[in-house]
Amino acid sequence: MNLTAEIATLFERRGAGSYFGERVSMLEHALQAAHFARVEEAPPALVVAALLHDVGHLLEGVPDDINDWHVDARHEAVGGAWLARHFGPEVWEPVELHVAAKRYLCATEPAYAARLSEASVITLRLQGGPMNAAEIAEFESRRFHRDAVRLRHWDDQGKIGGWSAPPLGEYLATIESIRLPARHGA
Ligand SMILES: [Fe+2]
Repeated sequence: MNLTAEIATLFERRGAGSYFGERVSMLEHALQAAHFARVEEAPPALVVAALLHDVGHLLEGVPDDINDWHVDARHEAVGGAWLARHFGPEVWEPVELHVAAKRYLCATEPAYAARLSEASVITLRLQGGPMNAAEIAEFESRRFHRDAVRLRHWDDQGKIGGWSAPPLGEYLATIESIRLPARHGA
């Protein structure tokens, strides 16, 4: 199966599931995050990162109810590793860092923590709470940490119930244009 077909299938199979206690499905959430990236004229790789930032959830499956989610599934690591097979670090690193970006923003921007959704506050605890000074320094040393922070904001924005963002089909050509050449046999 080619990559865009694989991505479409992942969203078809799991995308209808609700996005942890939010008013949007996983597919709607992904499309909204990607839409906000496009509105801000983010580069194509970052738009794709926004679209696929939760691909780890689509690959793994998680409980529908946030209250049943007792351990951090580390979806950002699962998603980042999957994306690294298909894209360069300008896509997978912001995805891998998007949960850390929440912990970073909670530590460095008090107003950010106050705006978090209820579900996001619950997962913040599972994810380790706000970063300490050493974690902040480590985060800021990562090459794509600023992109991860931008992605985080689109992630937080993409929770608008009852609104359909432009569809997945609008992104498939972009995905094809920035993907790594398919490996032999892959
Ligand atoms: Fe998300």
